Amino acid sequence: EKGGYEHYMLKEIHEQPQALRQALSGRVDEMQGTVELGLDLPAEYLRSLEEIQIVACGTSYHAGLYAAHLLEEHADVRVTVHVASEYEFRGGRDPWRTLVVAVTQSGETAETLGALRDAARTGARTLAVTNTVGSSVTRAADDALYIRAGPEIGVAATKTFVSQVATLALLTVHLGRVRDTLSATEASEILGDVRGLPGAVQRALDADEQVQEIAEAYADSEAFFFIGRHLGHPVSMEGALKLKEISYDHAEGFPAGELKHGPLALVTDETPVLAVLTDGANADATLNSVKEAESRGAPVIGCASDGRGEKLLDAGFDVPSLGEMEPLVANVYLQLFAYHVANSKGRAIDKPRNLAKSVTVE
Ligand code: F6R
Repeated sequence: EKGGYEHYMLKEIHEQPQALRQALSGRVDEMQGTVELGLDLPAEYLRSLEEIQIVACGTSYHAGLYAAHLLEEHADVRVTVHVASEYEFRGGRDPWRTLVVAVTQSGETAETLGALRDAARTGARTLAVTNTVGSSVTRAADDALYIRAGPEIGVAATKTFVSQVATLALLTVHLGRVRDTLSATEASEILGDVRGLPGAVQRALDADEQVQEIAEAYADSEAFFFIGRHLGHPVSMEGALKLKEISYDHAEGFPAGELKHGPLALVTDETPVLAVLTDGANADATLNSVKEAESRGAPVIGCASDGRGEKLLDAGFDVPSLGEMEPLVANVYLQLFAYHVANSKGRAIDKPRNLAKSVTVE
């Protein structure tokens, strides 16, 4: 049932290319620069849309943060992203021109469902982005957009993260085309990058042995810091969440620029720093943060495209060229890193202590 893998998590990490192909299947016309998502959202409504509010928890929240950048940039719409337990539909905004998007793998997370229901009561239109057909969130929302990742058994979300972002990238292109903020050529380019994801993710997976070696070399560190900017920021948070969940090591992810505003006090030769150095992640600026960490003796591990930072890094994972989708490939390396650190410690990877796959209580 684990397909020859030692854990569901590792199996699901390796299923990412397939999950992505399913997410894209039949939805993308790369030549025309169009997307067909089968949603019931009238063009007129999408054109008059002023704000998107994304509500989600945990890994799905990180996917929402990633998507927010894409939506703001390409669909020219204001996007706010909310941890569902902190969500309040703010007054003063026009509910008719607001779309509330709940991002939830299980479709059953109590806080996300609660936020979506609160929003619906104000008159805002709601959309569920989920992996689970017939889940509570799909019944509560006006519309559902499925990420089609297939069942995820491991408690730590892996393949569903990349599928969520890829699906939200398709929604971005759809909105951008309808709202006329994205030309057909620009849309084709984005769609080309999204379609390149399965292959690029596969290349990262093929480097698993290298990741394992490095993860095992640093497994006994005191703490781990993950840094990135822009699209690399949610990925750094996701990398840290994965590592802490399954290895029980202290890990923190934050915007690279914040390093010098506090966390640097904790950086020593016992605290590896993992940096996202790809397109879409302001890599050149992040290299400054890498230097700050390095000069405190921290080992720096980079997920980099275009050979960035080669001379500065203690270890580097190679990300193929893929525009704004590159940080998602970096994320695959961080998943493998977390997995191998945890596995070298013999942790209960598929069922970490204190955690449940779906959190149905507030
Ligand atoms: C992390 C993880 C959790 C979930 C969160 C939301 O690996 O799995 O943080 O992402 O509980 O779950 P869903 O997406 O089902 O709403």
